[in-house]
Parts: sequence; C-alpha cells; structure tokens
Amino acid sequence: MEIKEGYFEQQQTLKGADTAQEHQTNHFDPSSTLKACPVVRGYPFIGVLPKLLLNPLRLFQRAVKEHPGEIVALKLGTVHAQLVTHPKHVQYVLNDNWQNFGKGEVMWKPIRQVMGKSVMTSEGESWFHSRRLMQPMFTAHKANALTERLVKIIASDLARFEKAADGGAIDMENEMVLLTQSVTLGVIFGSSIDRSEAENLVEALKILNREISRRAFLCFLPKQFLIPGERAFRKAIQTTDNTIVTIIRQRRQSGLNHGDLLEWLLLARDEESKTGMNDQQLRDESVTLFLAGYETTSATLTWIWYLLNKHPEVERKLRAEIDAVIGKRQPTCADVAELRYTKMVIQEAMRLYPPGWFLARVLQEDDVIDGYVLKAGTTVLLCQYLTHRLHEFWDRPEVFDPERFAPEDSTLRHSYSYFPFGGGPRYCIGKHLALLETQLIVTMMVQKYRLRCVPGHPVEALPGITLRPRYGLRMTVELV
Ligand code: HEM
Repeated sequence: MEIKEGYFEQQQTLKGADTAQEHQTNHFDPSSTLKACPVVRGYPFIGVLPKLLLNPLRLFQRAVKEHPGEIVALKLGTVHAQLVTHPKHVQYVLNDNWQNFGKGEVMWKPIRQVMGKSVMTSEGESWFHSRRLMQPMFTAHKANALTERLVKIIASDLARFEKAADGGAIDMENEMVLLTQSVTLGVIFGSSIDRSEAENLVEALKILNREISRRAFLCFLPKQFLIPGERAFRKAIQTTDNTIVTIIRQRRQSGLNHGDLLEWLLLARDEESKTGMNDQQLRDESVTLFLAGYETTSATLTWIWYLLNKHPEVERKLRAEIDAVIGKRQPTCADVAELRYTKMVIQEAMRLYPPGWFLARVLQEDDVIDGYVLKAGTTVLLCQYLTHRLHEFWDRPEVFDPERFAPEDSTLRHSYSYFPFGGGPRYCIGKHLALLETQLIVTMMVQKYRLRCVPGHPVEALPGITLRPRYGLRMTVELV
C-alpha cells in the first residue's frame, strides 16, 4: 500500500479513538532464537480439518491446553493455520505489525459475499478511505446523540415482553435478536423502512447469518466441494440488496433530516477528495453496519441474561445501581455514565462469552513473532474466547466476576488480554454505539422484568460466526 503524507497522523487519530487500548510497541527480542510452532497433526492427509469443521472451539481449546503460551500450527489438509492466543502475540498481529496481516478468506470469504466492499471487508487504501470517511460518525459523542432515539425504539419494542410476562417460557436468544434488529434498523434507516420491508430483511438476514457461520472455515476444503444451501444464500443476498438499494434511492430523492446513520452516510465527504459514497458503497456499508451491529449485540445480551440468572448476587447489585441512578424513569445519556456497575457486568459477560469469539488474518509477507517463523500466505487465527480465559492473565478465569472491570483493576492487565472489539487500527468502529445500546437495553429490561432460566434447559456455547447458546435460552419473564 502506498503510504501518503498524513497517513500516520490519521492512524494516530484512529488509534486515539480506541481509548480502551493502551497500545505498546513491539518489544520482541530480535536476537532471540528462532523456533518452530508445535503442530497439532490429527489424521493422515486431512489433519484436524474435520475437527475444525465440527467444533472449532473445542479444537482450539485442546491445542492451547497441550501447548500453553505457544503459537500452535493446526494441520488442515495440505496447509497449516496458526493459532495465536498469547496477548503479546495478539498485540503484534492486530496492532504492532497489523499491515502484514490481511483479512484473507477464512470467515471473510462468505462475509464479503454479503457485505461487498465495505469498511469491514476491504483492505489497504480502500479500507483506509472508508474508515476515514466513517470514523467521525462513530465517536462516543455521536453515539450519545442517538440515546433518545435508542430509548424510544427499545421502549416500544419491549412492549412485546408484557405479553410474555407471567406466561410460558420464551426463547430469550430469539427475543434479543428481534430486539437488536429493530434497534439497528431504526438507528440506520430511521422510519424509511416499512414493516413488510423490515420483515423481508430480517428473514433474509437470518439465512445470511446461518450460511456465513456454516461457511466460516470451508475455504480449507478443495474448490470442487459443493456447499449445500448456496441457492438460499444467493436469494437472501438478493432480497437484502433489493430492499436496501430501494431505500437508498428513495432517500437520495426525499432529502434529509432523518437523523439516522443512513443520513450521515449520505452526507459523508472524504476530507481530501471531497467525494461522497455512490449507491453501491452505501449499500455495502449499510448492510455491513446492520449485520455487524445486531448479531454481536444480541449475543452479548443473551449471555448477560444467562449469567445474571446464574449469579443472583450480581443481579441484586445491578438492580440496586439502576434503582439508585434512575429508578423507574427512562434513562438519559447522562445516566448512562453513572451506570458503572452495569457497564462492568457487560464487559465481564463479553470476557466469558465474546460474541466475536475468533478472528482470522492471512500473512502478507514472511514474519517472525516472538521467535516463531511464519510464512507468507499462512492463516493466523486469534481466539478471544481462549485469550480471555488464560490463567496467566486472569485470576480464576472461569468465574463471572464483574469487579475485574473496576477502573482501578483494568489498567493492571495486558491490554490485549481482553479484545472483544478487536484491536489496533481495525478495532470495532461501532464499539461506543454497541456499549451504549447494550447498557440501555439491560437497564430498561431490568427496570421492568425479572428473567429466569427454565430449569433443566441445557446451555452450551455454539461457535458459529458469533458465539451463541446452542439450544437457545429458554426463560420466563416476571414483571418487577
Ligand atoms: C457487542 C457488540 C460488538 C462486538 C463484540 C463487535 C466486535 C467487533 C470486532 C471483534 C471487530 C474487529 C474485526 C477484525 O478485526 O477483523 C469489529 C469490527 C467492526 N465492527 Fe463491531 N462489534 C460490535 C458491535 C458493532 C456495531 C454496533 C457496529 C455498527 C453499527 C459495528 C461495526 C463494525 C465495523 C464496521 C467493523 C470493521 C472496522 C474496520 O475494519 O475498520 N460493530 N467489531
């Protein structure tokens, strides 16, 4: 990539916005002896490919247990993928030498088919251009400006729960998907999307998510392997395109003053070229924001309800904070800053169950990480789920304890021992919005309801493109 004047200043701006991450430089000792990664070989010829396709999380857990602290090579047919979990190695990949780690095909190939060329999927100059254009829309200040809109959407959507209250059990995972879809649609498209368009879109997105999850690791299979579900996948992409492109065209004609993200995207101008986005770019960015926004937030919320139910002492403390700060009235932007324990609960839930539980990169050029030699073209897999549970960095890592995120304790940890929002220049652009939305939903639901897991319902993490409960989450709802 050609580095233009001002590029590094821009990088600083992008990094500076990531207030949670204290970036350090690469301190690996260049004179340290080179070493080979230990290899998990599996079966002859196919290696651990079947295990990767069946349950990637279980495979990664075993690899790290057998080779703690190391970069581990997983043999997948004729190629190797390298599993990276130690925070200092994660930091190198995401931050210190991030430009040598492209997005590649693992997980990104199917995502690219849906999102097209957007800030999430593009690389090099094209990524930098999109990120520079969009960064100003995602500051904490801009997110806060959406508080009133968020509260209104959440309040009207929560009415659905009144019917469930004191009735039979409901699937809280499904409810959280519906809720975050409404919120994300409202934030991106405002009132420009009617009910039937929203229903078509939601249906298509369900298929897209399922198919992306199924395809995440399939690029390791030979090209001639036919992937089932291809027709449904393409049809769902077409439905998404038709709905979103129609909205964009209408909005170009109808003028402004909607105060939603689509308006901000329409108004965005590159500071150098002064050009805005064409219809295709707008389509790709809005689909990206929608998909990136609701899936992850709904998974976070689902795990929060599960964990609160398992830890009544945490739930009591959370209720006490919400009672003390806002009682029964609707939350405002100023209240959110006071809901410190609520935020700690969310952060701790994202430690144990990070919605984006893994990330994939591909090496552009040969590299050496802490003495491990990695060849160009190698796939590198990072796993938040495992790094967030490493004994060297977390005291009693399996225990749900929001106090870990008390501000005085948070600064003592390696900054890459916790990266639910990624890290380095490509950290999550929607982080402020996601935390705000989650804080508001948790607060408004706790104000009204008490949720209880149905006894005996099995809960197990399913590692798809996000981490979700394999059998959903059956819960009953009581009015408080
Ligand atoms: C709890 C909620 C969320 C989680 C856990 C999450 C997680 C992540 C992670 C891990 C990345 C880094 C991907 C990588 O490095 O390859 C990322 C990137 C991104 N996220 Fe989020 N996200 C969340 C919510 C959101 C929301 C609400 C939006 C927008 C509405 C959003 C938009 C994006 C975009 C556009 C990127 C790509 C940034 C870039 O490559 O420059 N995310 N997110």
